[in-house]
Amino acid sequence: MGPREQEGTTLFDQAKVKRKETKLPPLVNAITTSVKKNSAPFHFPGHKRGMAAPSSLVDVIGNGPFLHDATELPELDRFAYPTGPLLDAQKMAADLFGASQTWFLVCGTTCGILAAIMSICSPGDTLILARNSHVSATSAMVLCGALPNYILPEYNLQWGIAGGVTPSQVKMAIEELEQEGKKAAGVFITSPTYNGVCSNISEISQICHSHGIPLIVDEAHGAHFKFHPDMPKTALSQGADIVIQSTHKVLCSFSQSSMLHLSGDLIDRDRVHKCLQSLQTTSPNWLLLASLDATRDELSKNPNTLFNEVMELVIQVKELINHIPRVSLLDLSCFSNNFSFMDPLRMTIGVQELGLSGFEAYNILSTSHGIEPELIGTQSFTLAFSLGTTKEHTQRLVSGLKYLSINFLQEEREIIKIYHGIERVPFGEVYMSCTPREAFFAKKKKVNFEKSIGEVCGEFICPFPPGIPVLIPGEIITKRAMDYLIQVKDQGGFLKGAVDPLLSTVVVCDF
Ligand SMILES: Cc1ncc(COP(=O)(O)O)c(C=O)c1O
Repeated sequence: MGPREQEGTTLFDQAKVKRKETKLPPLVNAITTSVKKNSAPFHFPGHKRGMAAPSSLVDVIGNGPFLHDATELPELDRFAYPTGPLLDAQKMAADLFGASQTWFLVCGTTCGILAAIMSICSPGDTLILARNSHVSATSAMVLCGALPNYILPEYNLQWGIAGGVTPSQVKMAIEELEQEGKKAAGVFITSPTYNGVCSNISEISQICHSHGIPLIVDEAHGAHFKFHPDMPKTALSQGADIVIQSTHKVLCSFSQSSMLHLSGDLIDRDRVHKCLQSLQTTSPNWLLLASLDATRDELSKNPNTLFNEVMELVIQVKELINHIPRVSLLDLSCFSNNFSFMDPLRMTIGVQELGLSGFEAYNILSTSHGIEPELIGTQSFTLAFSLGTTKEHTQRLVSGLKYLSINFLQEEREIIKIYHGIERVPFGEVYMSCTPREAFFAKKKKVNFEKSIGEVCGEFICPFPPGIPVLIPGEIITKRAMDYLIQVKDQGGFLKGAVDPLLSTVVVCDF
């Protein structure tokens, strides 16, 4: 142990004792205090509180971010073992969101999902999850050696969009495993989806718990649900055991900052802590952490009314869009399963009846009105509303959609073609030859596209959009999957995860 570390304990303790009652949120106060100390910084980062910050960036963003960027100093805290302001901030977040414990994350919800799955699955364990889960769930299975047991969510072909997972699908998956003499180590559900569709977490958690199985909910897109009575219920309030939220997506913290919430006693908190320690950086950016704390503070001042204005704005905008010819809005009636809630702040706009793909509509709207959606799909595009959405933004949106509708209808007055999009379900069939982990570490070879059918996929191929994994390492490559991927590519989609995004070659396992 070096002198700094030996001294560290005392300094941290001293800083804790010295901390004064303040109105600032704990971590915002801590970074402010740290700057005021005006110390000689013989510590990392090397820009030394902005003294050597690269000037081209300082010219653009100013010196403030550099000034507040420091290492784990006594007046800040220890990221892995917080005892000071970080601990206070995390406790306050746990209280606000309704968790027994909350961890602040600086590597996004991606890292929270990895840690959550690793904290309940050991090598050889089975995880029940929807086939359209975020790529981080597959990465987690590669890391911990768990086996996937997939639930196929309902898929609306006309929109090219998947729905949620139903309680009966979860029940059936658990019972089928039990009939084989196996018990799932956990269930992993994404709710809401990217398009805002919520699953019935309350019923799903009851089913899981009646079998003694923990439930992880990827609530990356739903961190705001707690803050308005007309929002869907939060996963924590519906009985989920671990919930991971991208605070940066709809709430207002910096990109990369997320929270992992724990509830109940089905999950070993020490193991969650250990997994997070293994996966997260040892040099956290305190600005990211402070932004989580500041966001929590803002929400807690006004938890029931903060979203009133944007909720009202969304109602008005939907009303206006509903009157624009041949432009449609995704809603719960687009799915035959009984999903009872959609995120009111997520709006998916269909342009199929204008004869346009989502990409074409995006190009027009971006050029003519500067509209930038969150997600562009083959048949639609998706907009994220938040506290930062203004009336001027929504006016631009409505006028852009009117422009699209009027101009396109004039041009195509004679023949109105209906855009059919992609006629295949991306994940209709799954044949696994080996686990994602075995495939990930197996010897690989590249084969020509035509020769890949029937081989064991060695890479993760995820069209973006719509962001649904079509091939996961370990799965047999089918003609159906390849036809779907080619269609997506031809329509302008990008194939994420593929070594060759043009798909002339595919990486397969060389067993
Ligand atoms: C459903 C879902 N889960 C998890 C993630 C990962 O979140 P993050 O970007 O915070 O790592 C995403 C990212 O878009 C997502 O859409």
